[in-house]
Amino acid sequence: MCNVDAKDSSRIDMGRVREIVGEYSENRWPLIPLVQKLQDEMGYIPPESIPVIAGALGLFPSEVQGVISFYTQLYNEPRGKNVVRVCRGTACHVRGGKTILKLVKQELGIEEGETTEDMEYTLETVACIGVCALAPTMVVSNRVYGNMNPKRLRQLFKKDGNRHDG
Ligand code: FES
Repeated sequence: MCNVDAKDSSRIDMGRVREIVGEYSENRWPLIPLVQKLQDEMGYIPPESIPVIAGALGLFPSEVQGVISFYTQLYNEPRGKNVVRVCRGTACHVRGGKTILKLVKQELGIEEGETTEDMEYTLETVACIGVCALAPTMVVSNRVYGNMNPKRLRQLFKKDGNRHDG
């Protein structure tokens, strides 16, 4: 599980948060581009920024959080350098996708939605990657890997040099 304390305000540059909010608060529909800009710059949308955004745009913090929660590409927590997405679609499921997911969890030592302590990997599942003929599939840092099996999986993470150290 991620060891980074997202509530550790001392690590968030709130001055920069306010600057970015200020740049966008004069637009008519600034919320989405504003939170995207924050995420682009900080890697995620710090929870501490939500009251600042809400105050500047005349919204309730729950409305801002609601929009962030709605869009799967917006995040409230720091994410790993590499996002691993394992397909849990039907084609992948019938060709061993469940085993691939189990092995990825073992390999990384995390569950879905979690990030490794070294901030290298975040694990997610997706409904279909769109390359069902290559099932079972997964994506690591936007690169698609098909016909996955336990051996290929081990090789994939071994190449990174951060796994199988022990
Ligand atoms: S179901 Fe896995 S790629 Fe489509």
